[in-house]
Amino acid sequence: MSTVQGRLRIAVQKSGRLSERSLDLVRDAGLRVVKGNNDLLYRVENYPIDLLRVRDDDIPTFVADGVCDLGIVGENVLEEVRNGGPTAEVLMPLGFGRCTLKIAIPPTLAYDGPASLDGLRIATSYPKILRRWLDERNIAADIVTMRGAVEVAPRLKLASAICDLVSTGATLEANGLAPKETVLDSQAVLIKSPVAPEAGLQHLLDSIIERMAGVVSSQG
Ligand code: PRP
Ligand code: ZN
Ligand code: MG
Repeated sequence: MSTVQGRLRIAVQKSGRLSERSLDLVRDAGLRVVKGNNDLLYRVENYPIDLLRVRDDDIPTFVADGVCDLGIVGENVLEEVRNGGPTAEVLMPLGFGRCTLKIAIPPTLAYDGPASLDGLRIATSYPKILRRWLDERNIAADIVTMRGAVEVAPRLKLASAICDLVSTGATLEANGLAPKETVLDSQAVLIKSPVAPEAGLQHLLDSIIERMAGVVSSQG
């Protein structure tokens, strides 16, 4: 049987904390990635697969909608963009990109547990996750959503506290902020689309997932 086949697509972060390790995983799984002249798309030369290089925030939607068959993304992003619609299936944790979403405060703020946040303004790029965490504790705080540079919010008097990702802790330290509460622990995960690939590509998809699992378990 000879049919014209399409290509599988894997969504990876274009630039950021997961980019390099995501490419490493793909390569370690046996995919020879070649950079084309198009920065959005890297081609795999030994299989009918393309890597779609996008903003991490877009990855869950691309995979949920079937634009991409697989994606590599942080649990933090996955959790934040979760909505009522169809969702990507989490296949496995990948053991890299570990970070923690934390509430941090300047030294001038008196702090005696989560209740101290009541009535304050908190700056974050993760308003949904933070809101849920606050609601679970019956804390009425205002959330200021910022796309980046959350760590400067207290100095600018934009907010009294922040809720941001911490990995090494260098950013908090450089900004004189002290971590107080852990809101979410996160690492990179492999996600799969609820939309099946065209029939001719199902085998390849399964075998790529299997190989990635092998790479991850060999690194465990
Ligand atoms: C996060 C966070 C801090 C930094 C913390 O940003 O917003 O800026 O990482 O890391 P550290 O504890 O090692 O200093 P991220 O890399 O996710 O990029 P973004 O803020 O541009 O989204
Ligand atoms: Zn992002
Ligand atoms: Mg940052």
